[in-house]
Amino acid sequence: MSKPIALAADHGGYALKEEVKKHLDELGIAYKDFGTHSEASVDYPDMALPACDAVVSGECDKALLFCGTGVGISMSANKVKGIRACCCSDAFSAEYTRRHNDANALCMGGRVVGPGLACQLVDLFLNTEYEGGRHDGRIAKLMAIENR
Ligand code: RB5
Repeated sequence: MSKPIALAADHGGYALKEEVKKHLDELGIAYKDFGTHSEASVDYPDMALPACDAVVSGECDKALLFCGTGVGISMSANKVKGIRACCCSDAFSAEYTRRHNDANALCMGGRVVGPGLACQLVDLFLNTEYEGGRHDGRIAKLMAIENR
């Protein structure tokens, strides 16, 4: 059985996370929801960390992360060693961050992206393979920054 997708949101992304969960349920895609579980105010770094840790440890496959803009939670995710997070609100970026960047976290803003577009971006992100080849060296350089 394939590994679950890690989900996390702050209060600004909570509603969109719930919409994406319905979509994943319809598709039969397993996920682990690291919260938040209500509209009560929480801090996006606290929400990003456990979900990103689960991706890096191998417990989960990729992460779908949400905050108001998608920006704060993507900044948080990219501080975690091993995470390559992309904040996206367009289909081209959601596809190419997989093809070229081998992104393992997709971040979206609940105050930016509607549920229909979010689900389309999720599908592109989860169904697009990394191309490898000329991108391998760039990703190696990117990841080496973590050890500077
Ligand atoms: C919370 O109000 C908001 O700042 C947060 O969800 C996010 O947009 C930060 O980047």
